[in-house]
Amino acid sequence: MNILITGGAGYIGSHTIIELQEANHEVVVIDNLSNSSKKSLERVEEITGKKVPFFEIDIRDKEKLNELCSKNKFDCCIHFAGLKAVGESVAKPLEYYENNINGTLVLLDVLRNNNCKNIIFSSSATVYGDPAIIPITEKCPKGQCTNPYGQTKSMIEQILIDLNKADPQWNIVLLRYFNPIGAHKSGKIGDNPNGIPNNLMPYITQVAVGKRPELSVFGNDYNTHDGTGVRDYIHVVDLAQGHVKALKAINNKCGVAIYNLATGHGYSVLDVVNAFEKVNNVKIPYSIKPRRAGDIAMCYADASKAKNELGWEAKYDLEDMCRDSWNWQKLNPNGFN
Ligand code: NAD
Ligand code: UFG
Repeated sequence: MNILITGGAGYIGSHTIIELQEANHEVVVIDNLSNSSKKSLERVEEITGKKVPFFEIDIRDKEKLNELCSKNKFDCCIHFAGLKAVGESVAKPLEYYENNINGTLVLLDVLRNNNCKNIIFSSSATVYGDPAIIPITEKCPKGQCTNPYGQTKSMIEQILIDLNKADPQWNIVLLRYFNPIGAHKSGKIGDNPNGIPNNLMPYITQVAVGKRPELSVFGNDYNTHDGTGVRDYIHVVDLAQGHVKALKAINNKCGVAIYNLATGHGYSVLDVVNAFEKVNNVKIPYSIKPRRAGDIAMCYADASKAKNELGWEAKYDLEDMCRDSWNWQKLNPNGFN
């Protein structure tokens, strides 16, 4: 397939390009580089030995996007582009709604005008809010998102569902990612957050590399096996392969299809710290701090739908994720800088 990738210079997009190229798909990548570096794509080229056609285009730039889409006949779009920092979205709701929602509306309009009516969207487990069912199946009702970032995911899902209702020629796959961590085994690409990391794993690796003195563990009084928050961590390479498998749903003219991409296992913050210390033989000093606003106790998936329908399941375990995250950070203490 000839695939347009939005936000492809970012963490998940760059890993997905590798898997798509290895499966012999053609890709064209656009990104405005607001949260990424072109170097990630150079590294992808080193890994795959193939060129990655790249255009620095903002998805809100209708004219440039239209020019690109009318010159290329795309079979499908994989839409990663978006702002993703939960805390920042609370402080800058207008910027988040404008970039994520308006950007997606412009993108969809241009795709439609160029007769590309197949899209895979990066959604998130955040749409379940505080989940009504654990493990979370795709039938679990959507919940109340506690921040504008989560709202944009939930709203974009609804926009895509409405689009398919109005025009059933659209095939739409909503991939609800759980907690992606890890990095490509080469250590050439990985998560490269700006400033102080919000997420657990990049914070741990920055403590390990000596950039931060200790990890703050946000709360040890949750109703979980050790009191710390439980999440379903998934290796980013498994996640990337999930996108290749999701093309099967597009080929089968799925209409709207929703899949959790997760391992089905829940690990606590302290489980992750312990696994990281054990597999990498480094100490992670930490202290217990109050709960972080908006956090839930437990979030892990039932991932059987993707297995049954797409033939996809996660292969890597928590130790693989900890080893590969550390390998990336060790080899690139300052990310792509
Ligand atoms: P990322 O920030 O590394 O990648 C997103 C990319 O989109 C960046 O390269 C950024 O420069 C680009 N971008 C942002 N706005 C753009 C615009 N208007 N035009 C063009 N490019 C734009 O994030 P990621 O972790 O790779 O996440 C990819 C997608 O998956 C995002 O939509 C994110 O919300 C979603 N997601 C991520 C996680 C996670 O924990 N990483 C979890 C669930 C869902
Ligand atoms: N945590 C700490 N200390 C830290 C960072 C995190 O104790 O410094 C804890 C959190 O309290 C939580 C767990 O580690 O219990 C995981 O936190 P993350 O911030 O890594 O991940 P979240 O589950 O809070 O959220 C992430 C993304 C969201 C996405 C969600 C579901 O940030 O965008 O996964 O995919 F929506």
